[in-house]
Amino acid sequence: MTTAEYIQNNKDRFLNELFELLRIPSISADSAFKNDVRKAAEYIQNKLIQAGADKVELCETAGYPIVYGEKIIDPALPTVLVYGHYDVQPSAPDELWETPAFEPVIRKTAIHPEGAIFARGSCDDKGQVYMHVKAFEAMMATNSLTCNVKFMIEGEEEVGSGNLGPFCIANKERLKADMVLISDTSMIANDTPSIDVGLRGLSYVEVEVTGPNRDLHSGVYGGAVANPINILAKMIASMHDENNHITIPGFYDKVAELTAAERKDLNEAPFDLEEYKKDLQVGDVWGEKGFTVLEKTGIRPTLDVNGIWGGYTGEGSKTVLPSKAFAKISMRLVPNQSSDEITALFQKHFEGIAPPSVKVVVKPHHGGEPVVTPTDSKEYLAAARAVERTFGKKPIPTRGGGSIPIVALFKKELGLSSVLLGFGLDSDALHSPNEHYGVVNYFNGINTIPLFFEEYAKA
Ligand code: BES
Ligand code: MN
Ligand code: MN
Repeated sequence: MTTAEYIQNNKDRFLNELFELLRIPSISADSAFKNDVRKAAEYIQNKLIQAGADKVELCETAGYPIVYGEKIIDPALPTVLVYGHYDVQPSAPDELWETPAFEPVIRKTAIHPEGAIFARGSCDDKGQVYMHVKAFEAMMATNSLTCNVKFMIEGEEEVGSGNLGPFCIANKERLKADMVLISDTSMIANDTPSIDVGLRGLSYVEVEVTGPNRDLHSGVYGGAVANPINILAKMIASMHDENNHITIPGFYDKVAELTAAERKDLNEAPFDLEEYKKDLQVGDVWGEKGFTVLEKTGIRPTLDVNGIWGGYTGEGSKTVLPSKAFAKISMRLVPNQSSDEITALFQKHFEGIAPPSVKVVVKPHHGGEPVVTPTDSKEYLAAARAVERTFGKKPIPTRGGGSIPIVALFKKELGLSSVLLGFGLDSDALHSPNEHYGVVNYFNGINTIPLFFEEYAKA
C-alpha cells in the first residue's frame, strides 16, 4: 500500500482523532485549564507511541511539558525536527461562537465548500500538529519513512514559549537535526499555495497609569485632577503621527529596508484589496503611509493596543474619576529590530511623555525576534517541490505577519533553519471566535508531509 492509499483508507479515523484532541480545552493562558493542557500533551504522547515513535516522553518544564519523541532509522540519513504547539488561545468571547469552541463540528463555508472543522485550535495549531502525527503514522505503517524524525511539541507557544528556549539550550545533543519543520502558518489560498519565509518578532508590554490615590467623585473632583484613562488614551494616540508612523524615538533605526526589487517581488503575490475589505467588513484599510497591505503586515513594524481597561464598565452609569488605567500593547517587529531594545525604547518613551499629574509603570511581558528564512536552501526547495506535487502549482514565498518566538532561537542556539510549511488560511479565524480549518487543508497537509520527507532525503 502506498502512503497516500493508507491516508485515504484511514480518513475517518484521522478526523475523529483530531476531534478528540480538539475537545480538550488546552488554554495555556488561563490556569483554570491546567489539567486540560496536560491532557492534550498526553494525548499527543500516546498517539506518537501508537504510531511507532521511540523515546516518547513528556519533558517537564517550569510550565507545561514538552512532548518529545523520535524515530532514528539510520544515523546517516538527514534528521527533521518537527516543532508545533498543543496549547491554544482562550475561546472568549464564547457567545460569538456559532457552535461551542471545544465541540468540533464540520460546516461548509464559501472558502471551504468541502467543509471546515470549527473549534479552537483546529488550525492554530492542533490541527496542523496532528497532520504530522498522522503523516508519521502513515509513513511508518507503509515502511516509507525516508528521514530520521524528532518531534518537539510544546504547550506554551501562545504565552511566549518561555520554557522552550532553556529546554532547547539544555538538550542540544538530543535535538541534533538538520532542519526544523513547522506547520503553524498560513497559505494565500487553497488554489494559491505559498510558504512563509519570514515571521515578525514581538515586544509585548502592559502599562499602568495611576492618577489620584483612590477613585473619586467625577463631579466633585472632575476637571482639576488628572483622569488616568483620559491621559492614557492621549499617550497612546500620540504614539502614531499623521502618517501612522510610530513616534517612539529610535523605533525605526534598525528596521531593514527592502530594495525596490524585493518590494516588487513581495507585491507580486496575489492580493485582492476589495476582497480583503469585504471579508473584514471595513470601509478602508489603515496604516503606515507609503506601504501596501502586504508590506504593512509583512515587512513593517507596528504598535497596537490589545486591550485597555479601567474605571466603571458595569451596567448603567457610575460617576467616577478612576484612580487607574491599564493597557496591553504589542509591537510587531521586523528584521533587524530586537525585542529587548524595542521594549526598552518603549519604556523610556512612555515614562518620558507622562505628565507629572500621573505615575506610570511599564511591565514587559514576553517577546520574540523576527526571522527570515532562505528560499535557496535544500529544505526550502524540498518543501516547494512537495507543495507543488500536492497543489499542482509552485508555492509563492511570502512574509507572515504573525510571530513564532522560538524560530529565531532555533537558528541562534541550535544552528537550525526552519521551514514554515503551513496549511491554514489567514481567514480561518485564528485567535478569533469560530476558528476553523478546512478538511481539505488537513488532508493536504497529511499528504504533503511525506512528500517533503521524500524530497528532503533526495536533496
Ligand atoms: N501560529 C501563530 C503565528 C502565525 C499565524 C504566524 C499565522 C503566521 C501566520 C502563533 O500561534 C501565534 O499566534 N503566535 C503569537 C505569538 C505570541 C503569543 C508570543 C502571535 O503571533 O501573536
Ligand atoms: Mn500557532
Ligand atoms: Mn496562535
